[in-house]
Amino acid sequence: MTLGDITFQTSSVPTVDASLYNLSPAQAAFFKSQTGIDNDEDLKRHILEVQAKAYKIAPYPCIHGFGFLRLNLSNFPVYKHILKLGRERPNAVLLDIGCCFGVDARKAAADGFPAKNIIASDIVNEFLQLSHELFKTTPASYPGSLIPGDVFDPEFLSIVTPSDDVSPVSAIDLSPLKSLSPLHGRVSAINAIAFFHLFSEEKQLYAARALAGLLSAQPGSVICGFDNGAVEKGIKITNLSGIEYQGFNHSPESWSSLWDGEVFEKGTVKVETELVEILIFDKRHLMMMWSVTRL
Ligand SMILES: C[S@@+](CC[C@H](N)C(=O)[O-])C[C@H]1O[C@@H](n2cnc3c(N)ncnc32)[C@H](O)[C@@H]1O
Repeated sequence: MTLGDITFQTSSVPTVDASLYNLSPAQAAFFKSQTGIDNDEDLKRHILEVQAKAYKIAPYPCIHGFGFLRLNLSNFPVYKHILKLGRERPNAVLLDIGCCFGVDARKAAADGFPAKNIIASDIVNEFLQLSHELFKTTPASYPGSLIPGDVFDPEFLSIVTPSDDVSPVSAIDLSPLKSLSPLHGRVSAINAIAFFHLFSEEKQLYAARALAGLLSAQPGSVICGFDNGAVEKGIKITNLSGIEYQGFNHSPESWSSLWDGEVFEKGTVKVETELVEILIFDKRHLMMMWSVTRL
């Protein structure tokens, strides 16, 4: 079981709770169109089945609370820019890292980012198989790539200095890839929603360096995320759908200086951060929406 460095504060891990299932009309329309299941009850049964299997493998709060149904990326301002890269930049690659079911990757493919240029990657290979089950696809029917691996394993993703080569990239066949390192300097957009906040401060910096090495130096290449946030960085307790857990949260200030000055040379990226208070099952929760764009 891998939950990064977050630790549960509750003595036992809560069991799945079907009463937390709730789809907005837009979410229902997306999952119906993707799965071909028209009926609300059948769709609910299908999603609950896949959710229960995933939760048994690794009990992430976002699986427990159905956070994976929220289509988060498509609601962020950076999403339009990512779709534009997919439409207009030749051979633009989108990486959905720590993707779980890879819902954001599927949504981007449905919205026009060429699916053959999308990779969804997660340390838990079973989640990638469950992605096919959730979306009722097979590796043969879905052209996107799903690659298992650990961001902290240098055999899977080594750390290199961020690329400064702004020349256009040639087409690459992603399907045979077994690791991410061959994509150093070639990825136009990285979605890392709910990924960094799983790790300690040191490991967040490590992961930022590792992922920064993948980003293309072409202006506009972007990495974005949505993590537990804080006014002052530090170890915080978060309560999500009844689960209390402890992890390290960055503040807008600490997150900006990490990317602009530590990971990338100062002044070579635009960092945008916004602390947003969201309600998750009636509990107020401070999150940070962020993006780092190469200039
Ligand atoms: C909280 S979930 C977020 C899933 C998805 N991005 C979303 O927004 O719904 C974090 C995901 O990161 C994956 N993960 C954890 N450690 C990882 C690592 N070292 N390398 C790659 N993925 C990892 C987990 O398996 C899990 O699927």
